[in-house]
Amino acid sequence: MDRVLITGVAGFIGSHVARRFLTEGYQVVGVDDLSTGKIANVPAGVEFVQGDLARPATLTRVPRDCRSVLHLAGQSSGEISFDDPVADLERNTVSTLNLIRYGIENRIERLVYASSMSVYGAVEDAPIKETHPCVPLSCYGVGKHAAEGYLRVYGKKLPFVSLRMFNVYGPGQDMSNLRQGMVSIYLAQAIAKGRIEVKGSTDRFRDFVYIDDMVEAWWRAATYPSVLGKSLNVGTGVRTTVGELLERVCALVPGSTYSISGATPGDQTGIYADVSELRTCLHVDRFTQLEVGLRLFADWARALSPDMKTNLPTQPPS
Ligand SMILES: NC(=O)c1ccc[n+]([C@@H]2O[C@H](COP(=O)([O-])OP(=O)(O)OC[C@H]3O[C@@H](n4cnc5c(N)ncnc54)[C@H](O)[C@@H]3O)[C@@H](O)[C@H]2O)c1
Repeated sequence: MDRVLITGVAGFIGSHVARRFLTEGYQVVGVDDLSTGKIANVPAGVEFVQGDLARPATLTRVPRDCRSVLHLAGQSSGEISFDDPVADLERNTVSTLNLIRYGIENRIERLVYASSMSVYGAVEDAPIKETHPCVPLSCYGVGKHAAEGYLRVYGKKLPFVSLRMFNVYGPGQDMSNLRQGMVSIYLAQAIAKGRIEVKGSTDRFRDFVYIDDMVEAWWRAATYPSVLGKSLNVGTGVRTTVGELLERVCALVPGSTYSISGATPGDQTGIYADVSELRTCLHVDRFTQLEVGLRLFADWARALSPDMKTNLPTQPPS
């Protein structure tokens, strides 16, 4: 049976991806330092190693016979990256360098990397292709872009693909973290207190990808031959304004309203993906519509709501 290493396995996307690989019959080794992830998220059947990937010693505890590495561990918020840029660099870039060394030493066949739309920075109001210049606005985006660069530098020794993910949302997202994940932040506030505090303009726009579609992209990126050496956008190609998202969230949580104050440092005004490469390389051509994904997410979140009312901070952090 093939063995894969999935990092960030206690987090939102990593735990979903691990579940998919287990379902497909793979043995899954999962690493996570539980800095934001939760042990309860690690799917049953995962061989779990707790440790910080920025420390090379962690990888000495990982089996050497994994065929692929799916690297999803990291600090995942642009806003938080400004609190401690060195910690962000360690979590997102040093950890990738350590995995590159592990991959080369153990003749890993492929490393799939969790990059981000944040690498692009400020862009025009048009679908953004992978060839667009990368001028990130946040420390997070700089670290993700650097990690992509290291993968390219070692690309002859370690086959890789970087997935530039746009805004991922869906069941399993951390509803108690009001600094990461636009959809989960709004939905959590709507359910817990009926009032959403929005940091930044409602004219901003994004490309929201439902978690199941993201998992499918990861599965294909890890197993299809035609993607090696690429940085691929994983979005839907649909431009949605923050205002449209808020209207939909408020409609799903009757009685909820929103107000606007301040801004988020390093925030992109607007971005959505050109998905032609995604279609060509991974043959992804169907995406969950936002209204459908939001309804599924809201149903899941409402089931947690007694818990959320207790755990949610009363104010989003400034
Ligand atoms: N969620 C999105 O919309 C989105 C978009 C683009 C890129 N990404 C990237 O995808 C990856 C997964 O995102 P997510 O939303 O699941 O975030 P998440 O915070 O839920 O998961 C990240 C996991 O990595 C773990 N981790 C962090 N630093 C680590 C380290 N040094 N060593 C070991 N484990 C560590 C955390 O404990 C957590 O379980 C991240 O790298 C993120 O930057 C996410």
